[in-house]
Amino acid sequence: MTAAPWSPQSWKEHPAAQQPVWPDDDALEQVQKTLSTLPPLVFAGEARRLTRALADVSGGRAFLLQAGDCAESFADFSADSIRDKLKVILQMAVVLTYGAGVPVVKVGRIAGQFAKPRTSATEMVGDMELETFRGHMVNDDAPDAASRVPDPDRLIAAYHQSASTLNLLRAFTKGGFADLSQVHLWNQQFVASSDEGRRYEQIAGEIDRALHFMSACGIDLISEESLHQVDFFTSHEALILGYEESLTRQDSITGEFYDCSAHMVWVGERTRQRDGAHLEFLSGIRNPIGCKLGPTASADDVLALCERLNPERIPGRLTLITRMGAGAVADALPPLLAAVRDAGHPVVWACDPMHGNTFASDGGRKTRRFDDILAELRGFFIAHQQAGTWPGGVHVELTGDDVTECLGGFGDILEDQLHLRYTTTCDPRLNARQAIDLSFRVAELLRG
Ligand code: TRP
Ligand code: MN
Repeated sequence: MTAAPWSPQSWKEHPAAQQPVWPDDDALEQVQKTLSTLPPLVFAGEARRLTRALADVSGGRAFLLQAGDCAESFADFSADSIRDKLKVILQMAVVLTYGAGVPVVKVGRIAGQFAKPRTSATEMVGDMELETFRGHMVNDDAPDAASRVPDPDRLIAAYHQSASTLNLLRAFTKGGFADLSQVHLWNQQFVASSDEGRRYEQIAGEIDRALHFMSACGIDLISEESLHQVDFFTSHEALILGYEESLTRQDSITGEFYDCSAHMVWVGERTRQRDGAHLEFLSGIRNPIGCKLGPTASADDVLALCERLNPERIPGRLTLITRMGAGAVADALPPLLAAVRDAGHPVVWACDPMHGNTFASDGGRKTRRFDDILAELRGFFIAHQQAGTWPGGVHVELTGDDVTECLGGFGDILEDQLHLRYTTTCDPRLNARQAIDLSFRVAELLRG
């Protein structure tokens, strides 16, 4: 515990893991100054609205769907790719809402997910030792020494890409694209012709009929706003603390601080040290926040985290995102659920079935098996059922594109097919078909 009061800079008094070594401190300072004068990307009132929605999740009255890229890319930045990612997330939300009958809180890993923690500071490419790629907010992924030098101007570029992404998302989600009458149009051609696409079409048809039925009954659907738009929130890992600090603003209404880079931010498994800089930073902002938990997290760690990040026990404030791995979830999760339940902390429990199930394929590409992802999800639901706690949500990495990065699924992608369309700059993502398939499985687990 530190005696010094919290401020947006107080993280600097704590050891900060995973920070790039910027070559020029003055240049970094200049960039942070610029960032701190730019408009906030989100507003405090929106973050409070998400906290309230997540409070419903923590109380077992709603389900969290958090999804998007592992790492957004400066190279893949187009209206089409944002739209296609949103389409898949909306489709998943429809399947979950309709299939499980619970409200779904929609949060993208998007409009700011540009920084990656790495296991080692350098990597070998051929016989060259290069600084590792840390996300486009920091350096470039091209395999040469110059590209890997951290460049603070990238923080500004990340801000602007986030702003335009968010602008488009707001237009899509509030301007008619997410209207329930469009439910068929989100099914992309390459998905529609597949088994999971046809299964989706069936739900879409049922929703259509239900809407027509209500309309025929005399209900005025046009004035029913909730049918025509969705609340869609943004989130990313709060990794590069200088960036987050510069976007932290004091709310004029409440006087509290909000990190206005996204509605929700989370801290990773590698940066959640008890007295570390990341927890210090998160402890003082009032956004809803998340914390990843891997299989080595102890019940003590988790209770300390809850006390540190949510001492006032505000429902919806803290989401614990477990990423245990299919093999470990049955042993590692129950003690944490019991400890948090018995301490009475009102958390959201979400399952990240991706990061504990990553391995290198024979060809050396990072991949994940769809079956392992499902197995971890099943383990998550079973553990919650046994603990009497609410399996509050899922956190997945996906893309709207027809990539071949994860193995299996209905399309049954095989190891020797990974190279066909492997475009991620970091971890392997579910493609649109795998993501929709997954949402059907989760809806079944929720119903059961
Ligand atoms: N607004 C409601 C919701 O977000 C219903 C809704 C409208 C919806 N468009 C949607 C649900 C798209 C899922 C996907 O739940
Ligand atoms: Mn990832």
